[in-house]
Amino acid sequence: MSRARRIVADPAGPDPDQLAPAAAALRAGALVAFPTETVYGLGANALDPDAVARIFHAKGRPADNPVIVHAPDAATAWRVTTGPTPLAERLAARFWPGPLTLVLDAAPEMPRAATAGLDSVAVRVPAHPVALALLRAAGVPVAAPSANRSGRPSPTTADHVLAELGDAIAIVVDGGPCAVGLESTVVDARGERPVILRDGAVTREAIAAVAEPLAGGTGAAPADLAASPGTRHRHYAPACRVLVAPPDGAVALARELATSAAPGSIGIVSRFPAPAGVREIGRFRDAADLAPRLFALLRSAEAAGVATLVVEGVPEDGIGRAVMDRLRRAGAG
Ligand code: TXA
Ligand code: MG
Repeated sequence: MSRARRIVADPAGPDPDQLAPAAAALRAGALVAFPTETVYGLGANALDPDAVARIFHAKGRPADNPVIVHAPDAATAWRVTTGPTPLAERLAARFWPGPLTLVLDAAPEMPRAATAGLDSVAVRVPAHPVALALLRAAGVPVAAPSANRSGRPSPTTADHVLAELGDAIAIVVDGGPCAVGLESTVVDARGERPVILRDGAVTREAIAAVAEPLAGGTGAAPADLAASPGTRHRHYAPACRVLVAPPDGAVALARELATSAAPGSIGIVSRFPAPAGVREIGRFRDAADLAPRLFALLRSAEAAGVATLVVEGVPEDGIGRAVMDRLRRAGAG
């Protein structure tokens, strides 16, 4: 049984009184999971090194992987940095509140635990009304990685959080399922041009409309990965094997695997109906339809007890880049 308290909040317009205990818990150094438009975050006061250390302990997160600091508005976000670059200001004006994280030079008072000892800090103003109300009520910047154990799929419901971290946190604020379902786009905004370190719902195309991104970032050579520490680590993996099939190849692959596998052990997520002998874990129309449900489907496959999940890949443009990034990592190793 989990011991975390669940506070149910209206996703459209949360009652500030209801959120007061969660805000007080954050100020007191406790761990509070909360919804954002992307995924649920595991929050702690970013200025309190002990509170931040609790995040790493609860997640089993490698100490070299820094966390994102959340704020209710840009002016508050800039306070944990040495100040925005002109590029950061333009990106924030265009995409905040929203699923974009900006990497900037860290303010000297930022705890090393939050930045993993880097000179930089990642900041984000989330678009979820519950997250914004909680951040305003807390009155402190909130460090929050995704609220999953390290290496697991990110949580998109409060139940996902409780299943994995219920014993380790004080409160989960339940604001319903996350609309975006994939983590924010992470952009290094310290230079004149953006460097995309992690693809997300703010697409490369949308960023290019503000400023053309430099090459590199996601998918970059290992030598460049120090710029984006999180990409080194294993990620998003459910308890089953995940195979990413080319578009139009998923059904044939699943059918072939099922001929030599134990009954019920092969699952599929595809645009098409499951072939005979294969368990249909989910169907989608296109990348935009799959994105918000992807992590929940990985958990469904695990709950269904399949040994191998075949997921049909999507074209790598727009939100499809982020979907394929997460799928490849879920399948790697
Ligand atoms: O949508 C999201 O971003 C969610 C919600 C809760 O806001 N948070 C999230 O946090 O996905 P997390 O910790 O799972 O991913 C943070 C990513 C990691 O890849 C980490 O390495 C990178 O951001 N990051 C954090 N600080 C950084 C820094 N100073 N420089 C480069 N990358 C950084
Ligand atoms: Mg994460």
